[in-house]
Formats: sequence, structure tokens, C-alpha cells
Amino acid sequence: QTEIYLAGLSGVVPSLPMSFADLERRAEQALPPGTWSYVAGGAGDEHTQRSNRTAFDHWGLVPRMLRARTDRDLSVELFGTTFPTPVFLAPIGVIGICTQDGHGDLATARASAATGVPMVASTLSQDPLEDVASELGETPGFFQLYCPTDPEVAASLVQRAEAAGYRGIVVTLDTWVTGWRPRDLATSNFPQLRGRCLATYFSDPVFRSRLEKSPEDDPGTAILTWATMFGRPLVWDDLAWLRSLTTLPMVVKGVCHPDDARRAVDEGIDGIYVSTHGGRQANGGLAAIDCLAEVAAAVPDVPVLFDSGVRSGSDVVKALALGATAVGIGRPYAYGAALAGTAGVVHVLRTILAEADLLMAVDGYPTIADLGPDAIRRT
Ligand code: FNR
Repeated sequence: QTEIYLAGLSGVVPSLPMSFADLERRAEQALPPGTWSYVAGGAGDEHTQRSNRTAFDHWGLVPRMLRARTDRDLSVELFGTTFPTPVFLAPIGVIGICTQDGHGDLATARASAATGVPMVASTLSQDPLEDVASELGETPGFFQLYCPTDPEVAASLVQRAEAAGYRGIVVTLDTWVTGWRPRDLATSNFPQLRGRCLATYFSDPVFRSRLEKSPEDDPGTAILTWATMFGRPLVWDDLAWLRSLTTLPMVVKGVCHPDDARRAVDEGIDGIYVSTHGGRQANGGLAAIDCLAEVAAAVPDVPVLFDSGVRSGSDVVKALALGATAVGIGRPYAYGAALAGTAGVVHVLRTILAEADLLMAVDGYPTIADLGPDAIRRT
């Protein structure tokens, strides 16, 4: 903020957007229409997607006075690592379609390295998971798994992630089938089906062993083979097997019911990730933020990650007050990548974090530990 105001004194105004509304408008202008629909769109009539946003308005933070501190601390601990801030980059499989050079995964990883904000790298990346990991620098990352039907391919992906230095595995549970997405159906725009997000698969030795011809020689068959094995219909009985694939911390993504959260932790899962996938998978559901407090209360013994609808620093602070350990940024950083690659992602993260920090300062919550249930009211 100070940086921007000081530059303003010399007549320099920021070239990148300062509000989410402006960011969204400019990203829509920057991206081809089909790409925009794919990234911005959601399931059904997008009711859940809208609710993810509007539900934040039902929550209000309570200002507390005479607690001003200049040594504010936004750091959080996740699975034994201390991160400087409570936000992370949610997995966005097709981030490569948002950047001009197609290497959105690498651009995002560089933004993670530059800011210390950890990245959850998606299974569906346009660069192999090892290449993404090598751009993360000193910032530990996490690997997100869409669990394939072929158990040996699943094991291979997890073992590669472990070998590449990722510090945890995030298993997404809500996407074993793809949601009903009218915008994509209308444009037949599903980037994965053109193989643009399959670099991690195509470089996988076990996946390759399932093909008669290499993905380089016969990409069409490789894409079809991927499509037939994309989503394992996971049930509770699979959890022990999944857990056995790695000693890394394992988080399950897409959990919105406290009983599911509790059972997953009781069965060996190390963290719970509350998310409605940004309203892309199921429509007609509750807003993710409205599920958070109950889930967090059910699993006080593990970290709780959260995403869906976070657009600003105040959204981050509200999610923390409702029990999140760390808060995921999704579409906003994809829009930042669309406007300016790594610099755009860094800009989005910095604006959200600056707002969160200033809000915590003004409202008298100098550390995240101060942000308990008493800091927030349902209005
Ligand atoms: C996603 N998301 C997602 N999640 C996941 O577990 N693996 C993935 O590969 C993807 N891919 C993906 C692509 C695109 C274009 C979007 C917008 C989202 C979901 C993502 O991690 C997160 O849950 C949502 O983005 C959160 O919602 P908002 O805040 O972006 O609206």
C-alpha cells in the first residue's frame, strides 16, 4: 500500500487491477472466449458458484479497539512447515491455458517462490510435476491428486510427487466425474480432452506402459486412455490404500460435512480441505464458507484448508475466523496469470495479503491466533 501511494506521488499509477471486479473484467478481455468460459464458468446455472461469493456477505468481522500492534504476524504452520502467510495457491489444472506461452504452471510456481505462498500443483498440468517442483525454490509445495482408476498409475504419480520434494498430497474427492457445465458443453471446450493439461500423465512411466504407442507418436489414443482412467469412484474403503501410498501428509479436498471430515481424520488423513471446487462440480449446494465452521469444529486436531469464493483480504480473514488454518486463492490468480504471468499472480497475492494485513490491523487482530469465533458474527 505504502509502495503504491509513494509511487502515486510521482504520478505512477498501478498498471494491474486493484480490485477483484477490475481484475475479472480485464481477464475476460485478455482471454479467448472459450478459455474465459472454461475458467470463469461453473456447474449448472452456477448457483453454487454465486453462493460461494454472496455467502461471504452474511458474515461480518467484529472490530476490536486499543489493540494496535505494528508487529503483526500472519504466519501459519502447516504440517511442520511455517509459512509467512495464511494463503495458498489452490490447484488449477488448466492454468497453462491462461498464459500466452502455455507454461502457466511454471509461472505460478515462480510466483510461489517469489512470495513464499505455497502452491498446490494440479495433476492436470501442462508441465510435468517435476518441472513445476523445480521452480518452487525455497517454498515447499503440495501435489494435488485426481486419483485414476488404475492403482499403479495413482501410486506412480504419488511416488513421483514425493521424489520431487512436494510436502504433502491433496486428494480431490469431488471430481471422479466431471460436473454438468453448460458453458463448456455449449462450446465443447474441455482443454484436457485436447491433451493440453496432460504433461504429468504423458511423462509418467506407468501410464506410458499402458499405451501401445507413445503419447508423442499417438496423442489421440493417449488422451482417450487418460480419459478412460481419469477418475476412480473413491469410497471409504479406498482410504487405507490411498494412505498407504505415501508417508507424506495427506489432505482430502472437497469435504463439506463434519462427519466426513471426522471419519477421514479417524482413518488416517492428516488434513481436511473444505471446498466446493468453486462451484464447478456440483450445483445447488451450500456455499463453502457456510460449511467451514462446522467442519473445523469437528476436526480441531488437524489443519483445515479452505477455498471457494475467496476474492479479497477480508474474505481471507473471515475464513480464518471461521476456523480455516490456511485459505486457498483460485480464480483470482488465474486471472492475474492471464494478465501478466508470474507478475500477475504475484500482484494478486500481494493485494489480497496487503488487504488482509491492514484489516487485521484496523480490526485489532494482530495475529491469526487472535481470530477466533468471537471475531466474526453471522449477520
Ligand atoms: C479448478 N480447481 C481444481 N481443483 C483441483 O483439485 N484440481 C484441479 O486440477 C482443478 N482445476 C481447476 C481449474 C479451474 C479453471 C478452476 C477455476 C478451478 C478448483 C480449485 O482448486 C478451487 O477449488 C476453486 O478454484 C475455488 O473456487 P474459486 O475461489 O476459484 O471460485
